[in-house]
Amino acid sequence: MNGIELLLTRQSTAQLISPAPDQTSLDTILKAAMRVPDHAALTPWHFTLVAGDGLDRLSHIFTQAAINMGFNENKILKATKMPYRAPLIIIVSSNIVKHEKVPKQEQIITAGCCVYAMQMAAFSLGYGAMWRTGDFAYNEYVKQQLAINKQDEIIGFLYVGSLAKVEKKKTRKNYNAYVTYL
Ligand SMILES: Cc1cc2nc3c(=O)[nH]c(=O)nc-3n(C[C@H](O)[C@H](O)[C@H](O)COP(=O)(O)O)c2cc1C
Repeated sequence: MNGIELLLTRQSTAQLISPAPDQTSLDTILKAAMRVPDHAALTPWHFTLVAGDGLDRLSHIFTQAAINMGFNENKILKATKMPYRAPLIIIVSSNIVKHEKVPKQEQIITAGCCVYAMQMAAFSLGYGAMWRTGDFAYNEYVKQQLAINKQDEIIGFLYVGSLAKVEKKKTRKNYNAYVTYL
């Protein structure tokens, strides 16, 4: 798949199954993340890989976070099941560096580019991926359990796996309504 084809066809997949990307593919996915635009080369990101037993640990963390938030039984059960929606989750968090020319906002954008780059790499390797956030991305207990500093953010949970079925190509809006000329 060439670059333009990738850019014009990338899409997310919610339904993901095993196997997760093999070691060589994972290596490529992580290298893609390391190529993102990064003002002053601060590498303001961290990747936490969650697979196997790690999914059980994440499930416990989400369950406890749901209880802490006073969720009802249904929503707690939903939280418990969440990590099992893919065989691999790459948690992308920021790792903000104090810098006079690079504000936090730019560093967050850069970390967001990592999520996108990894999704694109996974997609071009024939895997599916979906960027998710939700309540648990903005939860102090979850951050603490994942050893993410208070000043940092969870940028996304990138769910990665194999496609359960051949995906229909999603249509896209035309860009005209989003473009003006100065
Ligand atoms: C920062 C961010 C957070 C997102 N969080 C969620 C989420 O929690 N749940 C969800 O269903 N989709 C979420 N999405 C949207 C999906 O990742 C995906 O982009 C959307 O379903 C559209 O599909 P597409 O990527 O094929 O266009 C999020 C997207 C972004 C950029």
